[in-house]
Amino acid sequence: MPRPERVVVGISGASGAVIGIRAVEELLAAGREVHVIVTDAAWEVIRHEVGKDFRFPKGAKVHSESDSRSPLNSSSFPVDAMVVAPCSMKSLSALASGFAHNLLTRCADGVLRMGRPLVVVPRETPLSLAALENMAALKRGGALIMPPCAAYYHKPRSVADMTDFFVAKILDLLGVENRLARRWGGG
Ligand SMILES: Cc1cc2nc3c(=O)[nH]c(=O)nc-3n(C[C@H](O)[C@H](O)[C@H](O)COP(=O)(O)O)c2cc1C
Repeated sequence: MPRPERVVVGISGASGAVIGIRAVEELLAAGREVHVIVTDAAWEVIRHEVGKDFRFPKGAKVHSESDSRSPLNSSSFPVDAMVVAPCSMKSLSALASGFAHNLLTRCADGVLRMGRPLVVVPRETPLSLAALENMAALKRGGALIMPPCAAYYHKPRSVADMTDFFVAKILDLLGVENRLARRWGGG
């Protein structure tokens, strides 16, 4: 896999905005050009789960879902890889059907059309048949589906440890080197 230089993090309005936020921080620390697309619903969740005064770190290029003048609206602006974390069931449905109604779904659609890695982190439980079918459709379309499923073998001691475990997996799938979580080295 070629080294991804320009990476997009899409944050939709599911619980777990901190997963996308930590991914942004780590991608910046790894020296990548990082664009963030935040849906209106995601801002609601960020205010609720992270805090009213939250700001993305300096260096992140932040776009709203309605920014139709963003270069990310066109697949002629090359994006090396994208993650949607967390992905709401609504955005999942739009991605699965190609309903590119906002900048997040439009950009992700372009990433798939250009054959670049798209990691989708769906957050809901339990899952409806519609959600399962949407995930299967997206997988067939070339996306990597990575539900944030907790593991215990790395002995997490905090929510931050659990979050970093998810972010490490996301970075692995995007092809970005990281040492965020302890890897299983055998029993
Ligand atoms: C605090 C909060 C948590 C939410 N968590 C989820 C969730 O985990 N999964 C989900 O699919 N929707 C969740 N929702 C509902 C979505 O925000 C809602 O369906 C929204 O329309 C999604 O829009 P978007 O996909 O454009 O961001 C949550 C809403 C709020 C306010």
